[in-house]
Amino acid sequence: MALLAAARRSSRHARRGMATVPAWDKLGFDFTETRSMIKYNWKDGAWDAGTLTTDQNVTIHGLSNVLHYGQGIFEGLKAFHCKDGQVRVFNSGANAARLASGCRRLAMPEVSPEMFDEGLDRLLADNMDFVPPYGSGGSMYIRPFLFGHGAKLGLGPAPEYALCMIASPVGAYYKGGLTAIDGVVVEGYDRAAPAGVGNIKAAGNYAPDVLPSSQQKALGFPICLYLDAKENAYVEEFSTSNFLGVTKDGTLVTPYSPSILPSCTKRVIMQLARDMGIKVEERPVPYSEVAELAEVAACGTAVVLTPIKSLTRTGEKLTFDGFPTISRLYEAVTAIQVGEAPDEHGYTRAVGLRPHEAC
Ligand code: PLP
Ligand code: COI
Repeated sequence: MALLAAARRSSRHARRGMATVPAWDKLGFDFTETRSMIKYNWKDGAWDAGTLTTDQNVTIHGLSNVLHYGQGIFEGLKAFHCKDGQVRVFNSGANAARLASGCRRLAMPEVSPEMFDEGLDRLLADNMDFVPPYGSGGSMYIRPFLFGHGAKLGLGPAPEYALCMIASPVGAYYKGGLTAIDGVVVEGYDRAAPAGVGNIKAAGNYAPDVLPSSQQKALGFPICLYLDAKENAYVEEFSTSNFLGVTKDGTLVTPYSPSILPSCTKRVIMQLARDMGIKVEERPVPYSEVAELAEVAACGTAVVLTPIKSLTRTGEKLTFDGFPTISRLYEAVTAIQVGEAPDEHGYTRAVGLRPHEAC
């Protein structure tokens, strides 16, 4: 039976000219080539119907807004192969809403939630065999990105826009699971200005962090924390994730700031915490309060919930040990993602079956 299924699978893959599926247990957060990407183009006031292309390169004019003026945003979300065999995307409505908010801020044409979902469905349907199987610990990461292109010399709206989505099977962003990591507070560089664009997933928010985060990684800190740009006193967020803390009396605290990215994962975690009877506070969090926290974690699509075992600021090191609340929340969110726990808030949406289950 297994041989027959493998033969069927390989002949179908040959017919469709596919790359080989990866070793699921070796996946990290690196790109693995999949079969196709989906690309929609906007011109003369309307989006086209979109096409799946095996070529995942994007050809644009050298004078495109995205290349000179940074008119580009992106998203990140995941699909999971669940216990019942279905593949489900997690929380895609929240990503669609955040993409739309970024489009408004950067004066780019909006993508409706229906178009966003349609893009995901078509991309995933064509790349189902790349979704890591249930139990492997992996997931399918989907990276939608939207940018202005076409020749444009002066500053202003671009003549055309493109929305692309590329999928890649991934494993853990850091060490995986609940392995705690060392963090550092970035000094001398700000992430986002108070009334800037830190609250949208603009490509330009990430370029300035490549230098500090690379420098800190070389010094043994895999994760960087930014404080607010105005007073350098309040916790903002990590380079690629939001900040969560648990007080000694068990309250989940997370910074409110208009210049941090509204994490979709954080909204879910806050809801699950409330469901468990945990008190949740979203408010400005002075760095001076961090020393009093019992647990600290980073949260986001890629990092899921990653415990932070230490935070170093100008040589002063705070340490955190034992992550009972973060562990409970991690178990709760990952169980919903893979269909091991009921999805009471409707975060997941079924998109189909992996090929061997569809036969
Ligand atoms: N903050 C930043 C700067 C990020 O890049 C991300 C990742 O997307 C997050 C927070 C977490 O957001 P989400 O939970 O929507 O992935
Ligand atoms: C995500 O978590 O989806 C992200 O976009 C993180 C990325 C910047 C590495």
